[in-house]
Amino acid sequence: MHQLYLSKLQVTNFRNLQSSIISFNSGINCIFGDNGNGKTNLLEAIYYLVQHKSFRKNTSFQQLINVECENPEIILSSVFTNNEEIVSYNGRLNNLKSEWFKNNEPTKKKVELKQIFINPFDSFAFHTTSSFRRNWVDTHLSFISKEYKQILNKYNSALRFRNNLLSKKPNDYRNQIAVIDKQIAEYSCIIIKHKKSFLNELKEYCELTFKIIFDEVHSLELELDSIFLNSTEEEIELHLQSTLEKDLIIGHTRAGVHRDDYIFRFDGYNSFEYCSLGQQKMSFLSLIFAYIELFRYKFKTYPMVLIDDVSGELDGRRWKNLINYLEAKKFQVLITTANDNFKKELEKIEEAKKIFIEDGNIS
Ligand SMILES: Nc1ncnc2c1ncn2[C@@H]1O[C@H](COP(=O)(O)OP(=O)(O)O)[C@@H](O)[C@H]1O
Ligand SMILES: [Mg+2]
Repeated sequence: MHQLYLSKLQVTNFRNLQSSIISFNSGINCIFGDNGNGKTNLLEAIYYLVQHKSFRKNTSFQQLINVECENPEIILSSVFTNNEEIVSYNGRLNNLKSEWFKNNEPTKKKVELKQIFINPFDSFAFHTTSSFRRNWVDTHLSFISKEYKQILNKYNSALRFRNNLLSKKPNDYRNQIAVIDKQIAEYSCIIIKHKKSFLNELKEYCELTFKIIFDEVHSLELELDSIFLNSTEEEIELHLQSTLEKDLIIGHTRAGVHRDDYIFRFDGYNSFEYCSLGQQKMSFLSLIFAYIELFRYKFKTYPMVLIDDVSGELDGRRWKNLINYLEAKKFQVLITTANDNFKKELEKIEEAKKIFIEDGNIS
C-alpha cells in the first residue's frame, strides 16, 4: 500500500489565509513568503486538520478565526490519498464546537496519518529545558507505543492519588500510601524499561541520520538520567518509604520517574555545554529524523513532516545536505522558509511543489 498524503486543502476564515484551493504533492512541498505572510499559519491549519488542535500552546478558537470575517466559522476541507483510495476530510469549527466529516459522513475519528512538526525554537528548548526533554520523550514514545502511553497514564494517576494523600492526610493515609507505593514501584520499573529500549533504538538511527544529513561522523545519544535507573521494584518501594516523612511535610512526591531527565550526548560530551548552536541544531534535527526512521520501522509507513523555518544557524552546505536528504526520502514534507538562499536551493528541486504566500494569498 502507498503512503497516505494530503493532496488538496482549502481553508476558510483560518487566521490570515485566503480561501483558495491548494494542491500538494506526495514529496517535498515548499512554502515561500516573507515574514508575517502566513507560512506558519498554513502549517498550523494542516496540523489542526490532522490533530484537531494547534501546535501553538493554549490556542483558542478566538485566536484562529480570521479577525475580519463576518461569519465566525472556520472551515477546513481536504483530500487525502494514497493513490489507490481518495478520502475527503472536512472540519467545521465555531466558538462552541468542532465537527468533523470523513467522505461527508460525520466522524469523531482523526485522519489515519501521523504528523511530526519541527520548528526553529525546539532545538533551543530541548537543549536548555529539562521539562521540554521529558515531554519530548513522553510524547514521542507514547506516539509509537500504546503500552507506554497506558503505563504512563497509570503512573500519573497513582502519583496524583499519592500526592493527594500526602497533602490532605485523610484517616488511614499511611496504609493507603503503602498500597499505592507498591503500584508506583511496579509502574516505574516498566516505564524505565520502555524508556531505555526507546533510547537504544533511537541511538541506532541517530548516528546514521547525522552522517547522511550532515556528512559527518559523530556519536549521538540521549542518555536517561533517572534516580531509579537500575533499581528493582523493591528498591523503589523502599526509597519511597524512606522519603515519606519529608514528602508528608511538603505535600507531594519529590523523587520518581516523573522527574527523569535526559542528557543529549554528542561524541560523549553534553551537547548543551559542548556544542555550538549550529551543532545543537544539527544534533536535534538528526534526532528527529532518527525518530522518523524509527517510526517507519514500527509502522511501515512514514509520518507527514512539517518543517517551519529551520534554516537559521545552519550554513549553506548543511541545508543543501538537509534538502538532499528530504529529496531522497519517501515522505510528504511541507517546509517553509523566508531565507532567500535556502529558498534558492529548494527552488532547484524540480519535482518539489512550490507554494507562495503573500499577505495570506496563496499561489
Ligand atoms: N486570527 C487572525 N486573523 C487574521 N490574521 C491573523 C490572525 N492571526 C494571525 N494573523 C496574521 O498572520 C500573520 C503571521 O503569519 P505567520 O504564518 O506566522 O507568518 P510567517 O509567514 O512569518 O510564518 C501576521 O501578519 C498576523 O497579523
Ligand atoms: Mg513563520
